[in-house]
Amino acid sequence: MRIAVGTDHRGFEIRGRVVELVQRLGHEAIDLGTFSPDSVDYPDIAAAVAWKVSRGEVDRGILICGTGLGMCIAANKVPGVRAAPCHDDITAEMSRRHNDSNVLCFSADLLGERLIDRMIELWLNTPFEGGRHARRVNKITELEHQVEQEQHGGSSTPAAGP
Ligand code: RB5
Repeated sequence: MRIAVGTDHRGFEIRGRVVELVQRLGHEAIDLGTFSPDSVDYPDIAAAVAWKVSRGEVDRGILICGTGLGMCIAANKVPGVRAAPCHDDITAEMSRRHNDSNVLCFSADLLGERLIDRMIELWLNTPFEGGRHARRVNKITELEHQVEQEQHGGSSTPAAGP
């Protein structure tokens, strides 16, 4: 797969290791920085990775910041992106099995190297289960379409919802 990798300054130190791991696992890594330890705004990096995923220029993305949260919030604004904030084996694996996550987000500050490596490997190797989970993921996509329609003046919001 083609995997875009992006970090802000908090992830700068581990970026190289993550890129190498992705390559070692047999994938092509597209390194989108940041390329110096100087402070940058995480939404800029999240946008660069997320739009590549959204446009199909890469298969998936990996985003790293201090907590993993800002990157995740920003990336999920981009259509077609399902970014998951992961912090252990279970969240990394289940975000693939059930949510078909296409962007892995995690904290550079709070997780150890071995855990990070394991999460990346699991996340890259775990397939989406499909079935009932596909129905649910399709409903997420449908929400995006509703937002688009709402923004263009129409209203596709259900009259009454649970
Ligand atoms: C940067 O200081 C920090 O806010 C960022 O790395 C991230 O944790 C945001 O969610």
